[in-house]
Amino acid sequence: MIVTTVRVPAKVNLQLGVGPVRDDGYHDLVNVFHAVSLFDEVTATPAPTLTITVEGPAGVPTGPDNLAARAALLLASHAGVEPRVALHIRKDIPVAGGMAGGSADAAAALVACDALWETGLSRETLLGLGARIGSDVPFALLGGTAVGLGRGERLTSLEAAGEFHWVFGYADGGLSTPAVYAECDRLRAHEPVPWPVVSDDLMAALKTGDPVALGRALQNDLQPAALSLRPSLAAALEAGTAAGAVGALVSGSGPTCAFLASSASHASSLASALSDTAHFASVRQARGPVLGAVVV
Ligand code: C5P
Repeated sequence: MIVTTVRVPAKVNLQLGVGPVRDDGYHDLVNVFHAVSLFDEVTATPAPTLTITVEGPAGVPTGPDNLAARAALLLASHAGVEPRVALHIRKDIPVAGGMAGGSADAAAALVACDALWETGLSRETLLGLGARIGSDVPFALLGGTAVGLGRGERLTSLEAAGEFHWVFGYADGGLSTPAVYAECDRLRAHEPVPWPVVSDDLMAALKTGDPVALGRALQNDLQPAALSLRPSLAAALEAGTAAGAVGALVSGSGPTCAFLASSASHASSLASALSDTAHFASVRQARGPVLGAVVV
């Protein structure tokens, strides 16, 4: 029997510039995505009907709400095939953690089903289908480092020199992305919201590969909203800075905290210092950039 397994990375946002709310309820973004070496795996096996099983943390839907299920159904209907597949998701990316784990699973399901059903869709078609499932799905297909405009789905890959070393503090319990965007709108209701622009300092830091410059340039417009909904994140970020992180920010809509280290060995010592605090449910080390969804 043909079985296809796809490995897909988590993302951290190096810059998340959030513009005013649009008529469709979304926000125009300047979203600099960076794929890091925390992976989910999706295995596709022929089956009479579409089923989803999940291995790992609780709280992942196994019904039609699961983004991997939506991806399989969308691809099947686009290609004119029956969605006869059992998808098994092995999760290592935190659930509702601001690292696009659900979007990653959708991207992996697109690649896995395309291979299993031999539908031979182009990368452009998969990116287009991905954008219909969620704003972060196309980047999970692409990987690397990229700037996303519009909802975040209009992607351009960026050259990044070398490798960056990260430590991620997972929280106990997630945050809802729509709730964090709504809180961001509430906090900014009485101030002009400027149009977001790509940060020159960030682009320069990526070109030189200097982690200290990158750390200084990290920026997330959703961070005040995540801190407002989860005040304990302020002390968690501070703990990373106190432990020597060269950059600290909430990942995406949170509540995962992302800390940048200056080297691999610095990341190890930072991870061990943060593991000794009570701020995180778990602490993980990762590097970036890494490839997007690939068959393994
Ligand atoms: O596109 P996706 O379904 O992943 O987005 C989840 C939620 O995040 C949306 O329902 C919306 O509330 C918010 N969002 C937004 N603007 C974006 C992307 C997401 O407001 N550009």
